[in-house]
This record gives sequence, structure tokens and C-alpha cells, in this order.
Amino acid sequence: MNIKNHQFDAVIVGGGGAGLRASLQLAEAGVKVAVLSKVFPTRSHTVAAQGGVAAALGNVSGDNWLWHMYDTIKGSDYLGDQDAIEFMCKNAAKAIIELEHFGMPFDRLENGKIFQRPFGGMTQNFGEKPISRTCAVADRTGHAMLHTLYQRNIRANTQFFVEWFALDLIRDADGDVLGVIALEIETGDIHVLQAKTTLLATGGAGRIFQASTNAFINTGDGLGMAIRAGLPLQDMEFWQFHPTGVLHAGVLITEGVRGEGGYLVNSEGEHFMERYAPHAKDLASRDVISRAIATEIKAGRGVGKNKDAVYLKLDHLGEELISKRLPGIREIAKTFANVDPVVDPIPIVPTAHYMMGGVPTNLDGQVVEPSNGSEKVVNGLYAVGECACVSVHGANRLGSNSLLDLVVFGKVAGDKMAKEIALNHAHKPLPVDAAGKTLARISRLNNQKNGENVAEVGAAMRKTMQTNCGVFRFPDLLQDGVTSINEIAERVQRIEIKDKSQVFNTARVEALELDNLIEVAVATMHAANNRQESRGAHAREDFSERDDENWLTHSLYYKKDHQLLYKPVRLQPLTVEPFVPKARVY
Ligand code: FUM
Repeated sequence: MNIKNHQFDAVIVGGGGAGLRASLQLAEAGVKVAVLSKVFPTRSHTVAAQGGVAAALGNVSGDNWLWHMYDTIKGSDYLGDQDAIEFMCKNAAKAIIELEHFGMPFDRLENGKIFQRPFGGMTQNFGEKPISRTCAVADRTGHAMLHTLYQRNIRANTQFFVEWFALDLIRDADGDVLGVIALEIETGDIHVLQAKTTLLATGGAGRIFQASTNAFINTGDGLGMAIRAGLPLQDMEFWQFHPTGVLHAGVLITEGVRGEGGYLVNSEGEHFMERYAPHAKDLASRDVISRAIATEIKAGRGVGKNKDAVYLKLDHLGEELISKRLPGIREIAKTFANVDPVVDPIPIVPTAHYMMGGVPTNLDGQVVEPSNGSEKVVNGLYAVGECACVSVHGANRLGSNSLLDLVVFGKVAGDKMAKEIALNHAHKPLPVDAAGKTLARISRLNNQKNGENVAEVGAAMRKTMQTNCGVFRFPDLLQDGVTSINEIAERVQRIEIKDKSQVFNTARVEALELDNLIEVAVATMHAANNRQESRGAHAREDFSERDDENWLTHSLYYKKDHQLLYKPVRLQPLTVEPFVPKARVY
């Protein structure tokens, strides 16, 4: 196969918000930067983020970044690293003002300031009462952010490789990362992109589940690349189920609906969150609300033909407010649930939404790995956004903290990469046969005889994850899940591509994506089975309490022998007093 070589200072894998914020920083610093994206950048999954981006601007009522920090730590069920959370919350306001100056068209209050709405778990004065902290562009905030960042990148001359699929990292004998091997989807050509610095910004992997708010492109590509390069994945047992996905469609209905005053009811018309979270009610954190909905359904108080949903009621908000602040939701409800929310409630269920775990990084976005009882930087490799674990979300992310995470740490990583590039004048030589393992993967798919079908194996994986590793986790299901996901991983190795042509071939792309998804699924199942406590989004029936004595630790999962290591949570913030773990009530 004819392999083409390219050299850049920086290669960014992923054209969503995290990748574009980093590439902008690099391009504006005069760095030769390439962004690879499986889809046109403005179709990246950031575009689907609805409700907003958090920052203690205090535009509606007094606010303080320290309150935001406290809420985020509590929301994380104390698994978030307090130095990283302090950094993110402290830098939030600056990041929003910067976006405003880039041209992001935020909604406005009467006085012209940026509009802010309440979101789950965001409070005033360390939990006293809900606060309006989430800055929004109606219910299309991610769309506005992504387009703003893309346009700034065009202005800064970032070079885009559209419909290019990064397959593997190039790692040399010293463990340094020297770029990526990529597939040009349109032609089927393989390329080597050599780089002084490489950033993974590939987003989530929600497609390991049957019911997911995630786009079909969210296949954990960066995680697959990292784990195949011998790196660990952190905290993979923690998956967020968004309380309000449209029944049978999975499409997200923003938490902004509840921020604007919408609420959940069961088949008896009861506003049941009053029982589960008497204080915060429908604005409790997502893990709490998803468990409440699952419990109501299990108790027979679900709605719909199969009683497998509850209703999200917003008709009382009135058509004017819905049209102004939630226009996208009205469209989604009409299209996917066949109801007009101005009149009727929307049937919703908890739906896989966000991966709290990812590739472990430090506060500069540099990927780190354990080494001799401590941690070392993997030279040349960075990760930001949902594919990374810095860790600001711990065991449960607060809504509207993900858009914040990607702009704050995207900028930091871009800065750090520019500094590293300035110090390294020459490219390190590539290892001999840099693309060898990737080519072997592709020829495995081509040469397999009487093999497995990619769609069938993918469906088996999604069914196993949905059944065995959902909102509530049961010991027998987890153990069966481990056996079954290991078997499915073996089937992935026997997938056969029927159409062997080298050019544009969706079955080949899907098979290569499944190589990544299965790594994420296996890591998730093993890490979930091994963590014997309940914390944030990881709720076990057999270990129903949080156990800080034994489990205030991050998990690190390695592909080799499914090894799991644990490292302590960083409880010491940068400049303020630590928030000591305590019982988490809303
Ligand atoms: O509900 C939402 O609008 C989702 C936001 C988020 O996941 O941060």
C-alpha cells in the first residue's frame, strides 16, 4: 500500500469544541497545526450540546467561582480532583467573555448581560438554593459555540483534514508519541501524520450503549488509540445517564427545560422528585434524578404503552417562553415523540449521555501514566474534552460543565503544546514500520474468511452494555457482563469486510470504529465489576453506600490482562481549603 507522509508541529484528532479551542490557540501562535475530523468540523458532537455552559458570572444573582467549585466537587461525589476543579471554575468567567468576544451569540438579559439559567446541582452559597449560572444560546449553545470556534479557526489558518479517520498513535521505543496513522475515508489511502505534539480531542463513546444521546460518530476513537498504545484509561466505570432522553429515540431533551421550570411526573401525575430530592427537586444532579426515574418505572408508576418512561411536563411554561428559550426542544418533541410540549408532556427515560472517564491527563492536558509509584508525562501526547480525564467531573458531571471543560482545558493544552513546539526544533525520527500495526488491522479485516458481521457484533456489544451496566448495577449482571463482553471482544477480532475495495467503504469504517468501541466497553465493564461501592453514576445493588475509606480512588484500566490499578483522588486544591467529603444530599 502506498502510504503518504506529512509533517506538522501539532496534530489534533477531532474537530469538536475541545479540538477547535486548542487548534485556535496554536494557529494564533503561528504553529503549523492540522485538525483531523471524521466529519465536517461543524457536525462534531459539540453541535448537539443544548442547555449551556457554566460560569459564575453572577448576571442574575450574586455568584462566586468558589460556590461553583463546591457544587462541582459535590456533584462529582468527591471523586473529582480538587486542583483541576478549582482551575476550571476559577477560569470559567474569563473563558465565557473570551467566547463572547469571538462572536458567540449568547442570549441576553433585559440589561444586555449574558443570559443565565439554573441547571442541576448548581447552587448559591454552598448548596443553599439553586442559582442561574448556565450561560445559554436558547437550547442550541453547543451549535453556537462550535460555529464560533470553527470560524475563528478559519480566520487563523488552521489546516483541516475533513473525513479523515485517525486510527493509531505512533509511539517510539522511548514511549514518546510522534503523530498518528490516519485513513482518508474518501480514497481509502493511509497517511502518516508526523507531529511534535499530538492532541486527542475525539469526544465520547456513548455508542457502546443501545440507548444514547450521542451521535453515531462518538465511538471512543481517542480511547482506542491510547489503549492500543499501551496507555491506561481512567475511571471508565462512571457513565452518566441523562435523565431526559426521548423514549425510544434517545434524543436529548435539555436539562434547561427543568431549569426553566419544567418538571417530571409519573403515571399518577405525582411530581415525584419532591420525594427523592426535597430541596433541589428536578434540579438535583443527574445521577440522583436518573435513579429516581428508574425506581418509579420499576415500581410500576411508568407511563406509556409499556410503562417504561415518565413524563416531562412543560406546558405550564407557555408558548412564548418555550419558543424563545427552548425552540429546539419543541421541534425535537414533535419529531421524535409526536407531541407538542406546549400542550402535552414529553415521554422520557434516562439515556446514556456522557463518559466521565477517559485518557488521564494533568492540568496542562498532557497525558500521564503511572511510573515507579508516581506519574510521568507521555511526551508529545495531550488529551482534552470528553475523551480525557483531568478529572473535573469525577463520578458524576454537572450539566453545563462539559462545554466549560473543553474551552478551559482546550486553551491550556494549546498553550502548552505551543511552548513544547517552540523548544523542539526538529521532529524525532519515526520508528521503522510506524504504520505496521495499523496495516495489520486493516488486512485482518480484508483477509478474514467466514468471519463475523460488524453490525451484528456491534448490536451484541450495545445490548450487553445496556442490560448489564446501566443506571443500577447488579452483581450477577456485572459478572455475566464481563464474560459476555470478553467474548464479544473476541468476535470483534474475527470481523470480515465483504466489500474489499480500498475506496470509500462504510463497513470498513464501522469495523475500525468498533475496534475502538469494544476497548471502551471492555474497560467499562471490568472497572464497574471491580469497584465495590456506590459513588455518583456507579450505583451497585450489593454495595449501596459510598466507601471513602477504600474507594476514594481513580481506577486505571489496562488492556493487558484487564489489569486495574488505583490512584488516590487529589483532594488538595491549588489555593483554597479542600472540601472534605461528606454525605451528598440534594
Ligand atoms: O441537558 C443538557 O442541555 C445537556 C448539557 C450537558 O450535558 O452539559
